[in-house]
Amino acid sequence: MWKGRFKEATDKNVVDFTQSLDLDWRLAEADIRGSIAHVRMLAHTRLLPQNEAEIIEKNLREIATEIRNSDFIPSKELEDVHMNIESRLTEKCGATGARLHMGRSRNDQVATTMKLYLRKEMLSIAAQLDNLIEVLAKKAEEHKNVIVPGYTHLQQAQPISMGQFWCAHINAFLRDAKRLEFVLDALDECPLGSGALAGSTLPLDRKFSAADLGFAAPTENSMDSVASRDHFIDILYFASVFGCHVSRLCEDLIIYFTTEFGWVKLPDAFCTGSSIMPQKKNPDVLELLRGKSGQLTGALVDLLIMTKGIPMTYNRDLQDDKRSLFRTLDCLQGIFSVLPPLLSRVEVDEEKANKGFADGLILATDVAEYLVLQGVPFRNAHALVGGAVKWCVDNKRSMTSLSLTEWQALIPQVKEDLLPLLTPRVSAERRKTYGGTAPSEVTRQLEVINEKLAQFNKVCGEYAERLWQL
Ligand code: ARG
Repeated sequence: MWKGRFKEATDKNVVDFTQSLDLDWRLAEADIRGSIAHVRMLAHTRLLPQNEAEIIEKNLREIATEIRNSDFIPSKELEDVHMNIESRLTEKCGATGARLHMGRSRNDQVATTMKLYLRKEMLSIAAQLDNLIEVLAKKAEEHKNVIVPGYTHLQQAQPISMGQFWCAHINAFLRDAKRLEFVLDALDECPLGSGALAGSTLPLDRKFSAADLGFAAPTENSMDSVASRDHFIDILYFASVFGCHVSRLCEDLIIYFTTEFGWVKLPDAFCTGSSIMPQKKNPDVLELLRGKSGQLTGALVDLLIMTKGIPMTYNRDLQDDKRSLFRTLDCLQGIFSVLPPLLSRVEVDEEKANKGFADGLILATDVAEYLVLQGVPFRNAHALVGGAVKWCVDNKRSMTSLSLTEWQALIPQVKEDLLPLLTPRVSAERRKTYGGTAPSEVTRQLEVINEKLAQFNKVCGEYAERLWQL
């Protein structure tokens, strides 16, 4: 399609090296829809007679069917999805098909096609992220009154509601949802009609094509339209942060599932065995999920480096932007295929979790705060309780087993009303500060989570109403 000024055929290895068909064939439907918008615009501006526009649209739709039925085998000699479809069109309807590309370049075409494709993909990811959060919210409700150890530095810190743990992860995923909304926004301007870089001498109506495709508006600057890829970087950043969040959730569960912790139970269907050790039940799925963040972050770095020194405007480097982007989308699909169903079946062995509390030391902060309420300055209270902890460790006694007389020998300010406070459940229930771990607070948090989720779904729902169809 561009051979007019060349004296010799392209080197065979160059054909292989420069083609992008193996990457971009998945864009076929989006590309066809973009071409239909272009041809409708050409008819609307009378650059193309209405009947010819209709012939082109009809044939493009037939090509879409051929592709869906795998009747159309593309050729890499035609470089990419765009040239393959256009050449098939001319094959089917001759000179009329050859008019399609007026006022258009592959540069604005690929920029438009990618945005169309990604609008659909990101909405599907949004629905799956919503599902993941809903699964976690169900777990939080189910485990609201289950008391487990909370950790800092992976050392026992204070008792928490397991619902609080799930809500902590939900809050991170809700921020990912916000980042996803930003991504949807970044995909909302239409590059079509920007041409190779400078616009067109033909009287194109860019607002018409943007509206036909359901975009909020056309892009503002033709050069920026074909040169910029930061909306891809936004997607990769979203995916990288999401990957981190998935990774640490999986790490938590892997740790709690170990023999040494042992208070989380995982479904057999989501674990694997060992080829040599018959006793093993390994959390391989969680480990694979934990590892995915490497790939996701790698893709982000790939695109940041690829695009940093690109001169205005389109350069062929950009063809390869799809490699990392599509791998990322596939990776996200993989994550969503196993993570929510696995999570929905996680169980907690509360009795076992509470065995970890046997030495009672996890309640030390509660004693210090009790003393604060008796008027003891916090630093003094900290030192007094530290002394009591030392005494318990030295004498191999659980902090919850001390009698009132023993307490008073260690800390004279202690009165009888301390003793009923010293259970992990009471400890968690008393942490009623806004956002604290008390089950009553978890209930309140879940209400906010539901509101935020409803808002997210509203934004996505409105976006979906403008989504292109073929
Ligand atoms: N396959 C190319 C890509 O994905 C299409 C654009 C080619 N444009 C060009 N000026 N060679 O980037």
